Amino acid sequence: DTFTATQYHTSDPTSFAHTSARERWPIILTQGIDDVHKSTWASNDEETVKEGKEIVSELAKLKYELQHDRQLTPIPDDGEADVEAYNTELAARGNPKWHSVPWLYSECYLYRRISSTFKQTKNWRSYDIFARQKMSTFKSSRPAVLELAGRYKDIVAELQQKHTTNRAKTQELLEAAEAAEAAEAAEEILFREMCEICLWGNATDLSLLTNLSYEDIQTLQGSDARKKAEKNIIVNDLAKAFKVLTAAQKAGKKDRRVDIVLDNAGFELFVDLILAGYLVASGLATSVVFHPKSIPWFVSDVLPADFAALLSALAQPQDFYGALSDTDKAAGKAPQPLSDAELGSLQFLFQHWTSIYAEGQLVLRPNDFWTAAGSYWRLPGSEPQLFEDLQSSELVIFKGDLNYRKLTADAAWPATTPFTDAIGPMGSGSGVRVLALRTCKADVVVGLPEGKDEELKQMAGGSTADGARKWAWSGKWAVVQFSDGKA
Ligand code: F6P
Ligand code: MG
Repeated sequence: DTFTATQYHTSDPTSFAHTSARERWPIILTQGIDDVHKSTWASNDEETVKEGKEIVSELAKLKYELQHDRQLTPIPDDGEADVEAYNTELAARGNPKWHSVPWLYSECYLYRRISSTFKQTKNWRSYDIFARQKMSTFKSSRPAVLELAGRYKDIVAELQQKHTTNRAKTQELLEAAEAAEAAEAAEEILFREMCEICLWGNATDLSLLTNLSYEDIQTLQGSDARKKAEKNIIVNDLAKAFKVLTAAQKAGKKDRRVDIVLDNAGFELFVDLILAGYLVASGLATSVVFHPKSIPWFVSDVLPADFAALLSALAQPQDFYGALSDTDKAAGKAPQPLSDAELGSLQFLFQHWTSIYAEGQLVLRPNDFWTAAGSYWRLPGSEPQLFEDLQSSELVIFKGDLNYRKLTADAAWPATTPFTDAIGPMGSGSGVRVLALRTCKADVVVGLPEGKDEELKQMAGGSTADGARKWAWSGKWAVVQFSDGKA
């Protein structure tokens, strides 16, 4: 990680790290404990119940240590290869206490430690403590999912038609220079819209919005919300990313891959799939590789099982969205079955995604590196194969806040530091074309024009008397930043 700038720290009262360690993490642990309680009491198996109780007590112990500012203790050997790296780093950091430790390391440690509690059992090894929350938020996303599914069907059907029956005609048209320009401008608008949908899908993250209501989720996800939010993208490099993809296409390159380092499951994964499907259908990419996490991570992050759960929900959309949950039934709500048109759009989307998946144009590629404790400054040194793999991609899209913190080493850079400098070995000379799609939910932010940070701090609620960068904590503002990886 960087030595040029200092990393954010849980002891700093002006950093969101301070509130996170004292308020947010205990709530996340409490919700996790409730979840394990539920699953334990739902089980008839004696050993599962016994282990469930042990997990609850381990998690309660962890919560106690956190709230009473105890030392972070070594992660028990749970048979996984990454324990040693976590513990070596912990020792090198002098076994710090919860309330005075770098934010990035301690937050990763928290989720790794939770995961080790499960990995040491027999029946709970692959249990996802956050799965219930992830799925129920996806259920609450029904209006936005239906709106986008309708739009997706129109766009992809049109693209497919253009690529097959009308290919010759399109070619003819494209030969006229003017028409080509117009077509490219239209393509760029669509590309921007798809990427912006994908960006704002990140605003509904469960680790930040610990008590999001059904209405809150919906207002964050609709197309009106997106239009209004466009002015909240303070830096927008999408034009540069579009150029990279069209240049490769024009050069006649046969295999053109886009990678997406995923963030959250549910609605955000749904919009990632919308983007992936669009990239393939439009020919801007020939394949898309998704990088999920390997352990339950920052509450809402995608695990391979979430990918499968999303697809099976969409395979039977009437059961998933049309049926009432027990809580809704108890509240006397009337069922709202999906219409034929809605079912048609969802079916189209499901078929398109499963067909590109079956064709190998959509690939899921997990790697432990994404759940290591360090920043992405370490990627070339600690995971050279993965680094090389990303070099062969046309564009690597990093979704969400944590990925941005990891790219920039979660350090207190001046806000005007160029993005390419702040991402260190992933920037200039890396050979990796990086695009960060990030709604701001933490302190670090770089690449802003002179004076912008100060301006945002002066807005109502934008800062505190001691100068905290409060505007950047809520997910209301976003940055879309590109680095071309050239020397
Ligand atoms: O800042 C709050 C927070 O929960 C951080 O812990 C984390 O960086 C981030 O939000 C998670 O958000 P995302 O899912 O966008 O990475
Ligand atoms: Mg996340």
